[in-house]
Amino acid sequence: MYLTKEEEKILNGEYGWGLAKAMQVIVSVGDSLNSEKLINIAHAHISGVSYGNIGEPGKKLIKQFADEGIKFSVKTTVNPIGYDTMDYDAIPFTRIDKSYIIGQEEILRSLNKMGADLTLSCTPYYLPNVNEIKKGSSVAWGESNAVVYGNSVLGIKTNREGGPISLMAAIIGKIYYYGLHIEKNRIPEIKYKIHKPEDYEINEVRAGIIGEIISKIHNNDKPPYLEEKLKNDTTIKEFSASLGAAGNLAMVVINGITPIRFDEKEIKETITIDFNDIKKREEELKPNGRPDLIYFGCPHTNKHEIEKIANNLKKINNLKTKIIITTSRKEISKLDRDALNILRSKDVKLISDTCLIVSPFGYKGLNIVTNSYKAYFYLTKRGIKVSLISIDNLEEVLRL
Ligand code: F3S
Repeated sequence: MYLTKEEEKILNGEYGWGLAKAMQVIVSVGDSLNSEKLINIAHAHISGVSYGNIGEPGKKLIKQFADEGIKFSVKTTVNPIGYDTMDYDAIPFTRIDKSYIIGQEEILRSLNKMGADLTLSCTPYYLPNVNEIKKGSSVAWGESNAVVYGNSVLGIKTNREGGPISLMAAIIGKIYYYGLHIEKNRIPEIKYKIHKPEDYEINEVRAGIIGEIISKIHNNDKPPYLEEKLKNDTTIKEFSASLGAAGNLAMVVINGITPIRFDEKEIKETITIDFNDIKKREEELKPNGRPDLIYFGCPHTNKHEIEKIANNLKKINNLKTKIIITTSRKEISKLDRDALNILRSKDVKLISDTCLIVSPFGYKGLNIVTNSYKAYFYLTKRGIKVSLISIDNLEEVLRL
């Protein structure tokens, strides 16, 4: 890989152990991918900051950097951890022990010392200074839903970086020029059409199922192109999260949404998804029987989604099922007072810094309902029964 004189100096340790270590990791991965050079990044989002995920080795490495006085070279935000920092017991059916909290707090102190913004949210794209990053800029993001959303909606460029790579990239402010940083790799070759009657709406649950279907059949290095115009941000977000979870994809071109120009002549194949297949899967994933818990917030909900949930709950008396919502503190601070009052009166819990998947939530056989395909994908692996319902149909499940 070509390195500038300055990059070589960093690699050779002229600026100390920490920067050299980060540069070594980035350069060696870049070399193994045959990347020709390094490029500057405008932002980093670090996933894998949860003590439950990186444990003692991860904690020690981050602390070592912080103790060396290493600072992040670019604005850096971080993903959720295993609990709400203001209320350790906020998530029902979850036990967080003291050693977990001690380990986690050490990680957060180190990240803070290095200059990270401790957003503890997987939707950095809702933050004003992040969603204003110039289109076409390269970043290093490590949370799969954010990676898909960033590439596909904001038009910024990132590969799907693992936690350690986004950490090292944030330290040196650079990443290898590879994959989706290269313009031609962002041009789709396969188009997906949804065959459906005009009045068949694609809500967020159906969008998650479409993500699952595309993930299973997409066998091309370039991002898929969805011809269907997705209507609102919830749908786009759940679609992005589903593609990232079920399919390891890092980008999708969405008609009318993705800021990219390409010639339709580049499309080599068109695949049609029949709405009956979406309907069939939706039927399989439908709740039957009253759940132990209803969960919204994977990825973290935004203000509008929370207000919509509150509005749907307005007319429900005698709520028998516990509802929890995970979101960022920033979104809670934007909430309308009426929505907050409704949620409070229904004992709906707003939880920050965490989510059911990153936390050690649940046990085999627990029965939950959510609108998130990604939550379904990961929680079912723990033996939890998960069914799906749109926020718009919340009432249906509350009447079970
Ligand atoms: Fe976010 Fe947790 Fe889902 S980190 S995308 S809410 S798995």
